Amino acid sequence: MKDIYILAIETSCDETSAAVVKDGREVLSNIIASQIDLHREYGGVVPEIASRKHIEVISHVIEGAMYEADMTFKDLDAIGVTCGPGLVGALLVGVSTAKGLAYGLDLPLAGVHHIEGHICANYIAHRDLKPPFLCLVVSGGHSHIIVVEDYGSYRIIGQTRDDAAGEAYDKVARTLGLEYPGGPVIDALAKKGNSNWVKFPRGHIDGHPYDFSFSGLKTAVINHIHNMEQKGEPYRNEDVAASFQKAVVDVLVDKTIMAAKDLDMGKIALAGGVSANSELRRQFTRRCEDEGLELYYPPIELCTDNAAMIGSAAYFDFVQGKLADLTLNAYPNLPIGI
Ligand code: KG4
Ligand code: ZN
Repeated sequence: MKDIYILAIETSCDETSAAVVKDGREVLSNIIASQIDLHREYGGVVPEIASRKHIEVISHVIEGAMYEADMTFKDLDAIGVTCGPGLVGALLVGVSTAKGLAYGLDLPLAGVHHIEGHICANYIAHRDLKPPFLCLVVSGGHSHIIVVEDYGSYRIIGQTRDDAAGEAYDKVARTLGLEYPGGPVIDALAKKGNSNWVKFPRGHIDGHPYDFSFSGLKTAVINHIHNMEQKGEPYRNEDVAASFQKAVVDVLVDKTIMAAKDLDMGKIALAGGVSANSELRRQFTRRCEDEGLELYYPPIELCTDNAAMIGSAAYFDFVQGKLADLTLNAYPNLPIGI
């Protein structure tokens, strides 16, 4: 079969990214313009600023991706773009640009689910990985345990009832006066802290063994710190970070391994920004070794938002004929697997 080259675009949150991906597995370029510095002073992503910045840089980012891949638009076979979920204004910049390119170049268009993209980052990192496998997707907006039944075929078996794992990291970091995004900062601090300083609650939901709840944990951490401050008792951010992180990681690892065993799945993949976490990777590596399970996760640059993962997902849509037309819109609450 002829090689398929896809130009992919991702603008669902605070990264403007474009990539050229060959046959869904090989990254020829992956340009990421992060807006994090702009949003940092507000302690989180400001949607209006995000949309404006995407508009400002999207053309340059696409030009950069084409240049780095050493290709012209004529060499492309399709355009892929994240169409949801995410910030509606931010998504619209990518979707409109992708539609313009598809129309102007007369190329097929694939609308990609952002979480599907995160899962597909594993296909890039591990060229031999094939479904079925179980995937833990943990990002700033999602915490899902998903059975990847086939390419493009997903079954959600567990999800968060309230905050996403990354959201909990970001909120706890904010309480500690740390910068946004909180995940990498807490990850680094936790390495120097005592994870047994306080045993924070692990959220469990009766009758739903694979669902998560992180809002109680977040509140427990925040209340604990405020109580200590009121009493004038000192504490170390390193110990808070390590104890909080242990509670998050324990739950993510326990539930995912339990699901893999219950469903008799031999392969586990990790995806999303929180899968960059060093303690999460360490614990999963140890537990999967003990349980005889195969573990896959992408390199850090493919864990957080990027267009290469969207290019991989778009490829599997393209070969299955799952294409969009020019009525494609931005869907801020797009469900996965339908
Ligand atoms: O996947 P992503 O880039 O964007 C979304 O789709 O949400 O994930 C961003 C999230 C943020 O909440 C950030 O704090 C978290 O991933 N994150 C981490 C780490 N690196 C990023 N969380 C824990 N440890 C990390 N090393
Ligand atoms: Zn993401």
